[in-house]
Amino acid sequence: MIIYDGKHHVFKLDTPNTSYLCGLADEKYLGHIYYGRKLGDTDLGYLLRTEERPQPPSQLLREKAGFFDCYPMEYSFGGTGDFRESCVEAASESGQKGLELTYVSHEIYEGKKALEGLPATWGGECDTLEITLEDAVTGLKAVLSYTAFRDVDAIARSVRIINDGKENLILLRALSACLDMDQEDYELLTLPGSWARERHIQRRDIGYGAVSVESLRGISSHQDHPFFALVSRGCTETSGEAYGMNLVYSGNFLGKVFRNQFDQIRAVMGIHPGHFSWKLAPGESFQAPEAVLVYSDGGLGKMTRSFHKLYRNHLIRGVWRDRERPVLINNWEATYFNFDTEKLLSIAREAAKNGIEMLVMDDGWFGHRESDNSSLGDWFVNEKKLPGGLPRLAEEVNKLGMKLGIWLEPEMISEDSELYKAHPDWALQLKDRSPVQCREQLVLDLSRPEVADYIYEQIRAVLSSANIEYVKWDMNRPLADVGNAVLPPDRQGEISHRYVLAVYRMQERLISDFPELLLENCSSGGGRFDPGMLYYSPQIWCSDDTDAIERLAVQEGTQLIYPLSCIGAHVSACPNDITGRTVPFETRGIVALAGTFGYELDITRIPEEDRKQISGQVELYKKYHPLIREGEYYRIASWRENHEFDCYMVVAPDRSKALLTFVQVLAGVNRRSRKIRLQGLDEDGYYRVDGKVYQGRTLMCAGFLVEGLRGDFRARLIEIERV
Ligand code: GLA
Repeated sequence: MIIYDGKHHVFKLDTPNTSYLCGLADEKYLGHIYYGRKLGDTDLGYLLRTEERPQPPSQLLREKAGFFDCYPMEYSFGGTGDFRESCVEAASESGQKGLELTYVSHEIYEGKKALEGLPATWGGECDTLEITLEDAVTGLKAVLSYTAFRDVDAIARSVRIINDGKENLILLRALSACLDMDQEDYELLTLPGSWARERHIQRRDIGYGAVSVESLRGISSHQDHPFFALVSRGCTETSGEAYGMNLVYSGNFLGKVFRNQFDQIRAVMGIHPGHFSWKLAPGESFQAPEAVLVYSDGGLGKMTRSFHKLYRNHLIRGVWRDRERPVLINNWEATYFNFDTEKLLSIAREAAKNGIEMLVMDDGWFGHRESDNSSLGDWFVNEKKLPGGLPRLAEEVNKLGMKLGIWLEPEMISEDSELYKAHPDWALQLKDRSPVQCREQLVLDLSRPEVADYIYEQIRAVLSSANIEYVKWDMNRPLADVGNAVLPPDRQGEISHRYVLAVYRMQERLISDFPELLLENCSSGGGRFDPGMLYYSPQIWCSDDTDAIERLAVQEGTQLIYPLSCIGAHVSACPNDITGRTVPFETRGIVALAGTFGYELDITRIPEEDRKQISGQVELYKKYHPLIREGEYYRIASWRENHEFDCYMVVAPDRSKALLTFVQVLAGVNRRSRKIRLQGLDEDGYYRVDGKVYQGRTLMCAGFLVEGLRGDFRARLIEIERV
């Protein structure tokens, strides 16, 4: 629900358990008042502290800068006295940049509008407030949009910048959200990583000055994640406060948290202003992406469950959202580039016998690609490897009762390709500089519509040529050389964002042309695992690191915001290709069950005792997938923190059953059992666990004993069922 208290000039947005308030100072500067537990009152304007020194400009004109520099801005602007981080900056034709945004009007309506060209949360169970602010000198308008969801504790924010003046403006930054709060001993939680080690949870103090999460790689990246949370000191899974902010965007981003001289915090998030500008002629507008905010007063776990619910109910789309996903086998780690139809079919035959439902042919089936140095852009089948092409492969795979999926990397071009010979200028490049290779490939300049359209038509033809039911859309390098010979100098800063818009457009076309297709995004593992991509694909490959133990931390960080139903997780062979570690096959299966399940190995060559376990693992997946897909997630323990074991559970929405995953990473000494306190059960209900019946309250307060396992890297799945 959203209301406007006209007497006190306060806007109040309510979700089931939270309230968000902003309001106007006398001079019509829109200020942030409150975000937290649900409140009844609206008369909270005193929190803007306009009576405190420095006084507002109308009362003490000389102190305008002093006022701006501490007023809790709802959408910050700079150049006129607020020396903290600005959300919006624009240069007029004079080259000058100052702005002063004041309230003009607002509108409250039911539902939510789509964001043109951009992924965003959707759904009818919500209300939206749009507040228009204006800079009287340039005519720049900022339309701040806030959606409060009725069924989940989340608020979606976005901003549209309009040039309502008479001159051209160059927009130099247009961030999506700003949260000005008091520093009440919050810590900062972020999700940094690297290739094969994505999204590891990190917590630190918030000292004076700024700390940021950011990417200028053209993708949301392995290294930083477009997410941060301000959490109360000592906030645990079950207690404390957490404010999470996640950007629904897949390109360059900036999230910055700044603590100033007055112990105020400003937290902002949006498209990174580096490498960004956007020319706005009079009458034109720019849509900034959406940032999603979640507040929890019940620790990190409650924040997590709100994000999961929001993404499951209001972000992920398509027929596969609620469907059981086929168990797949992918040939990448099995063969790398070295395969042909026969090899693939030998894998498929053995896989089919063991209950696996889909073969995914990974990189290396097109052009003359035998390693990563050629053929990207040449989306025609290599008949030497695959005689009869995709139709024959699909027929043979289908005959085995399996589906066929394929790998594509549509955003790239190899110098050694037919496409590059024909269109060398289609790669992103800077004038007079030779193109920068990365993984021996260049990036296609998708900001040019003719390039994006050509590639889209190529992949459409591939997918129409045979019965292909799944696509792994990969993207294996960051963007460098961000320039082209097509756009004028004052539009070169638009290329990174135009690129992202083009990727979104291509994927939107793909899922509307092939509505039954199961699309999985990927970027050298989890380099573009973000809410933007989730709007197009219901699952994303989480990490190239398939080692079950390393995966525990990657999956834990990913699960902090993203539902298990969208996390691509596979069992691979040991010793693991990346870590060299050997983990029992059973444990590998149990860890991969916390996501969309599959195999990434040569099933014809693994030890017989491992192969024998596959059909049992597939059965477990079939049994538990609805729970994993729809259940509520509770993190019980993290081996990152305790260095011994990992434990999490999923609980059915009606609390009738749950599944506990326990992984003993390192065996302890003198430890015959470990006490685990369960979460999320019905306190008064009775549950059967390991053959014994306990009251829910007992399991959650007193705990349950998991018998000690002998050895390292051992795991158990424990079923909990209401009696
Ligand atoms: C990326 C992906 C892998 C695999 C290779 C193929 O690294 O993350 O899963 O598809 O590309 O080149």
